[in-house]
Amino acid sequence: MCVDKNVGRSSCKIIYNNQIAEGVYEIVFESASISSLAQPGQFVNLYSSIGSRLLPRPISICEVNTKEQWVKLVYAVVGDGTKEFSMLGKGQTIDVLGPVGNGYEVEACETSILVGGGVGTPPLLELAKRIEGKKLIYLGFRTGSYLVEEFKKYGEVQVATDDGSEGHHGTVITLMNQNNADGQRIYACGPKPMLKALQQWAGERNIRAQLSLEERMGCGFGACVGCVCKIKAKNELGYTYKKVCKDGPVFDAKEVLF
Ligand SMILES: Cc1cc2nc3c(=O)[nH]c(=O)nc-3n(C[C@H](O)[C@H](O)[C@H](O)COP(=O)(O)OP(=O)(O)OC[C@H]3O[C@@H](n4cnc5c(N)ncnc54)[C@H](O)[C@@H]3O)c2cc1C
Ligand code: FES
Repeated sequence: MCVDKNVGRSSCKIIYNNQIAEGVYEIVFESASISSLAQPGQFVNLYSSIGSRLLPRPISICEVNTKEQWVKLVYAVVGDGTKEFSMLGKGQTIDVLGPVGNGYEVEACETSILVGGGVGTPPLLELAKRIEGKKLIYLGFRTGSYLVEEFKKYGEVQVATDDGSEGHHGTVITLMNQNNADGQRIYACGPKPMLKALQQWAGERNIRAQLSLEERMGCGFGACVGCVCKIKAKNELGYTYKKVCKDGPVFDAKEVLF
């Protein structure tokens, strides 16, 4: 079980930490507080046990189980921090702070469109569980896929890959166009080019879209300005800066300046 070290930061016991695709891991750890508080689209900060790696690594909450008090994250190994996490095993502990950020505003409607790209797909799983109504789920990957079977429990899933190794050969946007995707709300998380294209796609159809941005971060909880993004504002500049870790990571597509 989690042992509180200070406000919001806990040492959590790992239930498992398995590779689910090339360079992609799924970690599940015990946490009564995070599993009960987490909203879809929020993230946690994971801390390295190595003193020189001071900054936390933000990872989105993929799924929680309030009853069994666990939290699931899915992460790609891209550098030293995530490599260190990938070597942790069952029974070991990891320092976690969270949940952090605003999360998606879940809105009732007839059909919701969920769009994920790469490591932007995990936060949509808990969201898919909590949205009512029909769900069209578009998942894009460079090559191969993961979490697809889990998503199938909650909606109609379509996969696109850049190299054509699975599903549609191309982007999620071309796949959505091919399918004449239609809905009243869009929720998305993924790389910037995908979010930018989706902002335009939603704008042309006048559909409200919420985008989760994955900026590089510093402190991870609002104390520095390491994660700012440009948000439209009614001032002389036409924009202001907001902190992705605290004001986001989810923003209305109409507000974001890419
Ligand atoms: C709100 C939020 C949620 C996130 N959720 C997830 C998630 O669910 N799963 C997941 O795999 N990753 C997620 N990320 C990205 C993740 O935080 C980084 O990949 C991780 O911090 C890299 O740490 P590292 O020490 O392994 O790599 P580093 O040594 O810090 O960096 C290695 C490489 O990764 C790049 N990188 C680092 N941070 C980011 C970033 N935020 N976005 C894009 N590239 C980055 C660097 O530019 C560098 O090329 C999220 C990021 C944010 C801000
Ligand atoms: S990462 Fe420090 S303010 Fe956002």
